[in-house]
This record gives sequence, C-alpha cells and structure tokens, in this order.
Amino acid sequence: MSEAHSQRRYVVQPVREVRGELRVPGDKSISHRGLMLGGIAQGLTEIHGFLDSEDCLATLAALRALGVAIERPNQTQVRVHGRGRAGLRAAAAALDMGNAGTAIRLFMGLLAGQPFDSTLIGDASLMRRPMERVAAPLRLMGACIDTEDGRPPVRIHGAARLQAIDYALPIASAQVKSAVLLAALFAEGRTSVTEPAPTRDHTERMLQGFGVQLERSGACVRLAGGQPLQGCRLEVPGDFSSAAFFIVAGCLAARQGLTIRHVGVNPTRTGLLQMLRLMGADIEVRLHPGAAAEPVADLHVRAAPLHGVRVPEELVALAIDEFPAFFIAAAAARGETLVTGAGELRVKESDRLAAMAEGLGRLGIECELLPDGLRIQGGRLRGGRIDSHGDHRIAMAFAVASVAAEQPIQIEDVANVATSFPLFPALARAAGLAIED
Ligand code: S3P
Repeated sequence: MSEAHSQRRYVVQPVREVRGELRVPGDKSISHRGLMLGGIAQGLTEIHGFLDSEDCLATLAALRALGVAIERPNQTQVRVHGRGRAGLRAAAAALDMGNAGTAIRLFMGLLAGQPFDSTLIGDASLMRRPMERVAAPLRLMGACIDTEDGRPPVRIHGAARLQAIDYALPIASAQVKSAVLLAALFAEGRTSVTEPAPTRDHTERMLQGFGVQLERSGACVRLAGGQPLQGCRLEVPGDFSSAAFFIVAGCLAARQGLTIRHVGVNPTRTGLLQMLRLMGADIEVRLHPGAAAEPVADLHVRAAPLHGVRVPEELVALAIDEFPAFFIAAAAARGETLVTGAGELRVKESDRLAAMAEGLGRLGIECELLPDGLRIQGGRLRGGRIDSHGDHRIAMAFAVASVAAEQPIQIEDVANVATSFPLFPALARAAGLAIED
C-alpha cells in the first residue's frame, strides 16, 4: 500500500438524524466462498450480488492464478468456469491475500490436499494474524504446512494424502471450521467438525447448494471426502456486517425510520439484533418470502432510547464482526455495558478491543479494557481524532459515532474500508451522515 493510500482520512461532522432507504453491497463471506467452491466445481457457477471489494478481489485473483477462468460481466456478477475437483494447477508466484483473513484461511483448507505447492501471503495486518489454528487440524489430516512463528507466509507442500479426522474446534471460528471442511472434500473418509459455539454456517449451506452431501446434527458437521461439486447459480444477499453500521446509526438517530433492504439474516450472523434489542432498540425484520439457501430481509430501524447491558457470552460469536459498531451504540447508551468472552476481537484486522477503547477514550467515553472484552460507561461523545489502526470496521464504526457526537470526528487511515465496503462513504452520505473523504 502506498503511503498516500494509507494516509486517507474521513472528517465527519456531527448530524442529528439519519433516514431513508438503502441497500448494502453483497456479503463478503458468501462472495469468497462462492468463488472458491465455483473454482473446484464442475461447470459454470454464476454469482449474482457479488461483493466487488478488495478482499473478494484477492480471492478472485488467487483463483485465476490457480488456473480458474473467471468472467465479470459487470461489477456484481461473476461467472466462474469450474475446473472440477482435480483441476487447479500450481500458481506461478505466492498468492497475495491482501487484508483478507477469510481468503487465506479458507485457501489453506482448499490447497492442503492439492498435488502442488502453494505459498500464501498478505498485507502487513494479515502477516501478523494467527494461522496455526488452521494449520494444526490440517496437519492432523496429513497436510504438510509451515507457518512463520504461527503467522504467514503459509507454505503448503503439495502431494499430501489427506485422511478424514474428527475434530473438536478449540475456538469458535467459522474460518477454521470452513478450512477443515474444504480439506475434507479432498480427504479419504468421513470428517467431522464440532464447534464449541455456533458460528456462521455459509460454507455448509453453500456446499449443499453445490450438491455435496453433508450431515448436520447439533454442533457437529460430517462430510465424506471425494464428492464432486456441481456448478450452480448463487444469489448473494446484502452483507449484514455492512448493514450493522446503518443499524446502529438508525438506533441512535433514525427519528423517522431508516430502511435497509435485502440484507442477509442468517441466524448465525444476527447476534447484533439481539444485543441491540436487549438495550431497547426498535428494529423490525421483514423476511422475504421463499426458500433461498440464505434468508434475506428488509430491516426497519427507528431511534429509541438505549440503555447499557451485560452482553450474554453466547451471542459473541453470532456478532463477532459487529462489535466495533455495537461499542458505539454502548457509548451513546445510558449506563454501563459489559462485554466479556470476546478475546477473539484481539486477533482481527486490528486488536479491536484496544482500538475501540482508545478511540472511545478520545471521544471522552469512560471505557475499561478487559483481557476479553470492554466495560463502557455510556455518556456524551465529544469530537476528536481517531486512529483506525488500518481496520475497516473501526473506521466505519467511528464514522457512525458522528450521529451522537458533539463535535467533528477525524478518522485516520481509512483506506482499508475498501476491503469490505468501498461504497460506505457514499451510502453513509445518502443516509444523512456528513462524511468527507
Ligand atoms: C469469517 C469468520 C469470522 C469473521 C470473519 C469472516 C468467515 O472469523 O470474523 O470476518 O467468513 O468465515 P473467525 O472464523 O476467525 O471467527
């Protein structure tokens, strides 16, 4: 990333109201998975509603480097010409995953059982993130993988013969679960993965859409190796994690209401709705009829007085990417909010607990940083200068804080918003935020 690129900032003036209707771009998790499964399927996979963001484009470029032909008739439509289970070929150079944790971890699973070597790298943030959580179960399957002190570059030595395992995930992580399931497609025998708490299940739903038989019972998924995938048509709903910024803005300032259309509301993603409702939020979910693989809804949000809560730990994994936005709601609520059991936030694109505590402190909010959470005393938000630590969700969360702030907020280092939500400033302005970028 060039210095000029990394120095981009937002200046956000305080506003008192958000309103209207908007539609957020496609889901990031589903877009990554659609590309990858499409690449190893037989025949054509057509993806509609694809998220045209830096993270998903890293996955797309990696698949092309692995020999998959991909057409893009327009920004949100992708045609993947699948090469079948045995069709990938060695990339000529290291595969650069940019900022994308999902891409690198899922590719580890996909590439562990290939007959060729691969090297996976990323940007400065990704090169600091833990990869052993994925490498460890893949090694149990017989994969030959090196990390550098647990971090990228990840070197995968090909030609390993993978065997099925029964694996109990030590942490609730959809990326680890998905990597094991992808490797399981190339393993001999029936793999099972058991999770300590439910995490997003897009991989399981999508594999079934590609014709793979899998069994789900309680916290366990079982999948027999050797099954072919059949290309299909995928409709990607709007990304709940992008909608989250507008949901929080609406809870704080949509006096006439704010509508967010066509949002994916898979129950493994919507813990934020439950958390905000516990605080007194007024959010209506109007489900679209029909039986798509992923449920879709229009969300109607109205401003309501929010009060602090103790967040039930069982909701944490169901809202894992929404905490930056949620902490803004907590800062603007009456009373104390306590989040624990969220230590995973320390190993996201930034240490999100530390970055949010620092930023909220800058805005005059009393906030205690715990090893696995935050204690926030709701109050009046001043303005101030915020360091996003190059983390897209920290940048967008503090932009939303402007609906409750008394003075302008300047957010530094916002270029990475393009990894998940390049249209954020434009949509935020349409909803009423006074954001200059
Ligand atoms: C994701 C899983 C989550 C989430 C990430 C996307 C996925 O990470 O934070 O943004 O697409 O599987 P973990 O698996 O590390 O919990």
